[in-house]
Amino acid sequence: MSDLRPIGVFDSGVGGLTVVKALRELLPNENIFYLGDTARVPYGGKSASTVERYSIEMTDLLVAENVKAVVIACNSASAVALPKLEETLAVPVIGVIKPGAQAALAATRNQHVGVIGTRATIKSGAYERELRALNPQVRVSACACPLLVPLIEEGWLEDELTDRVIARYLGPLVHQGIDTLVLGCTHYPLLVHAISRALPKTVRLVDSARNCAMAVKKLLVQSYLSAPAGNLAGLEIALTDAPDIFLSVARRALQLEIGEVQLREVLHATKL
Ligand code: DGL
Repeated sequence: MSDLRPIGVFDSGVGGLTVVKALRELLPNENIFYLGDTARVPYGGKSASTVERYSIEMTDLLVAENVKAVVIACNSASAVALPKLEETLAVPVIGVIKPGAQAALAATRNQHVGVIGTRATIKSGAYERELRALNPQVRVSACACPLLVPLIEEGWLEDELTDRVIARYLGPLVHQGIDTLVLGCTHYPLLVHAISRALPKTVRLVDSARNCAMAVKKLLVQSYLSAPAGNLAGLEIALTDAPDIFLSVARRALQLEIGEVQLREVLHATKL
């Protein structure tokens, strides 16, 4: 059995293309429909109820595109909206938190994991909850890094100022003794070199995008939803507002072939 319908991926903006990149590498036969909420980005500083509402509106648009599964590429949206979406959507839905937590536990040797993300993600405590549910003994040190997203969107991926900001955020986590760090934000894989430089060699990095792609692959196989082998897969990209400069930063950094970008209007959810 095979299924040619696209995988629907959504994010607050274009940062979720890190997840698309990982999906295309791992699942080259799958069609992907990506929806970025550029009209309302960033989600990371907004309240949980607002992010949940936006996430419902984004998945409504994806369902209208006849997607076979929904991937919440955004960590902030995964952190607060996954339970609601699992309850209401008729298609399977996967977020980035659980796959990231599982990979972190597989990587840690001293059972002390660091997590970095937006304020919404860290405040939700979603990574801690998931990590502790899988291993009650694990120690978690979490830190919100709100300055990183704007620096990445500016394209300052290799920059002295970015290095200093990273050192300031990560210094206390290193001091506390983490041996594994979860990059709990769509954008952070773009800073992987700068973040690695700021950490002792012994600290392992967990990229939530790659681990999410592996979870999607497993889900498709188990649910008989995979596209046929040899399918010439397409990537469609739609945004809720005109793309800004970050689309070219992401395109360059990720070396993704992005064709014409479509526009979609958000239909507001009437009730939660
Ligand atoms: N996509 C968001 C995340 O992964 C980062 C950007 C934002 O704040 O919207 O948390």
